[in-house]
Amino acid sequence: TVSLVLLDFEGTQLADHEADLETAVLPAAEMAQVLAGLVETLAQKIGMSRQDVAGFGLGIAGVVDAPRGFVHWSPSLTSRNVQFGDVLERVLGIPVFLDNDANLVAMAEKSFGLGQGHNDFIVVTIESGVGMGIVINDEIYRGTRGCGAEFGHTKVQLEGALCRCGQRGCLEAYAADYALTREAMLASGEAAERQVEDILRAAKEGDEMAASIVSRAGRMFAMGLANIVNIFDPELIILAGEQMQASHLYAEDVIAGMRKLIVQVDKAPPEVVVHKWGNLMWARGAAAYALENVSENALLG
Ligand code: BGC
Ligand code: NA
Ligand code: ZN
Repeated sequence: TVSLVLLDFEGTQLADHEADLETAVLPAAEMAQVLAGLVETLAQKIGMSRQDVAGFGLGIAGVVDAPRGFVHWSPSLTSRNVQFGDVLERVLGIPVFLDNDANLVAMAEKSFGLGQGHNDFIVVTIESGVGMGIVINDEIYRGTRGCGAEFGHTKVQLEGALCRCGQRGCLEAYAADYALTREAMLASGEAAERQVEDILRAAKEGDEMAASIVSRAGRMFAMGLANIVNIFDPELIILAGEQMQASHLYAEDVIAGMRKLIVQVDKAPPEVVVHKWGNLMWARGAAAYALENVSENALLG
């Protein structure tokens, strides 16, 4: 799913749009065409056209060099090492600002979500992949090469399950949507893919197979979160994304599981909150990022 919001210069939301892509993974040039079409649809909702929009912010999954608009790798693109920001600007005809999707969710949490008033916090998203945004001293922490905060690809198993990044044993290969559907297919022997919401619901309703799949994924996820706490000891962790949206029970188990796995000290564990704010969370951060850059450029003349 791609979600979009259109903001005015005050940051007020004027329109939004959600679309399921026919093909979720495309060559960069084709993805740019698809996105341009979606921006046009969004703009038309308030009688504008794409060219009237001052800037386009994009949060994309994968390893992104944000200041350069460069995508090293993205699960949404067949192209690697592409100057995707430039490709998009040529097709859209407006300035483009891109960053990692979860980094922009962290930015959205900071600006209008549960991160408000916090200088240090971590956002973890869980749906088609596992994403992360790290806020330290009020700023997104990206690592030296801009390739950091890839929580989904922290390793939790030697020679483990195949991840969409091409490596084995990554956390998301056990906890993301595709891990749940893969396990459900393996366990049932059925060829048809079950939706993640169905698996989570079945687990909640006591279906044993679904429950064991969800519980294993949850324990893996809890293990990953405990690693975060052991490394960062953050003030706050915000969990978001469709899996958190779908099941309250799952989140509670994960948080309880994480608490058991962190180094036990004579202090309360970090606060963990679940933010169920829907698909538009991805777009809000991206739009805010564009707004910030467009306003800055306007000031610089
Ligand atoms: C990607 C991350 C992304 C996350 C959520 C992962 O597979 O590597 O960059 O943030 O999915 O989309
Ligand atoms: Na990130
Ligand atoms: Zn991986």
